[in-house]
Amino acid sequence: MNKHYLIAGGSSGIGRALVLKLAEAGHHVTVLSRNRNDLPEEIAHFTVDFESEQYELPVLNSSINGLVYMPGSIQLKPFKSIKSEEYLKDFRLNVLGAINCIRHFLPNMNSEGASIVLMSSVVVETGMPYHSLVGASKGAVEGLCRSLAAELAPRIRVNVIAPSLTDTPLAEKFLNSEEKRQASIERHPLKRVGNAHEIADMAAFLLSDSSAFMTAQIVRMDGGMSGVRKI
Ligand SMILES: NC(=O)c1ccc[n+]([C@@H]2O[C@H](COP(=O)([O-])OP(=O)(O)OC[C@H]3O[C@@H](n4cnc5c(N)ncnc54)[C@H](OP(=O)(O)O)[C@@H]3O)[C@@H](O)[C@H]2O)c1
Repeated sequence: MNKHYLIAGGSSGIGRALVLKLAEAGHHVTVLSRNRNDLPEEIAHFTVDFESEQYELPVLNSSINGLVYMPGSIQLKPFKSIKSEEYLKDFRLNVLGAINCIRHFLPNMNSEGASIVLMSSVVVETGMPYHSLVGASKGAVEGLCRSLAAELAPRIRVNVIAPSLTDTPLAEKFLNSEEKRQASIERHPLKRVGNAHEIADMAAFLLSDSSAFMTAQIVRMDGGMSGVRKI
């Protein structure tokens, strides 16, 4: 059966890979982001900037089977140099955007087996220097997931994917030289970085009925970084 999925941040990176996969499978997809980029014309698109102080989310008259919130940031800085406003800015994008989206579209998520997917990062499970901005926001996303999963069960499932470095426009600054790429590869027990398609495949699985017995889970797609220690 064809379903309707709402993907916030579906115009680039992991979100774009997910949108194309869902559309190819015949599903109806609605995307929210600042730019439409080169999304195919059958994809509905609404312009929203989740970093702005105020934004309006579109009113949809149809049911939504699944919602994914992709917008996020990776800003690395020494703790001492980070201003409070920077934490608030990251929180606004990574956490408050997801909360506002879920709150707004919850009335549309009235079909059986509805599913929400949020994005965290390996740095919540594995502490790394200079990652306090992303760590603080993504830690909140993981807490939000568990609380919402409890509150919305059994009607709506909520899960999170926590990737490590994944080859997308967001990660370009960490992978834009052979030296940087190699250093990132070496940090992973599986000796490579992630790619957008494999993370999108997991998001599609979490949206689908194949994951119907999963909720409140943090799926760590990190090449072994959070679970393996080479001795
Ligand atoms: N890539 C990695 O290495 C990595 C690692 C760990 C976790 N993650 C997480 O995975 C998620 C997806 O990352 P990605 O690498 O696919 O990022 P990406 O390539 O930068 O794509 C992000 C998407 O979110 C949208 N977006 C960004 N800021 C927005 C804003 N202010 N308002 C509305 N839409 C906005 C972008 O569209 P517009 O620019 O058109 O608005 C784009 O569609 C993020 O939450 C990220 O934190 C990524």
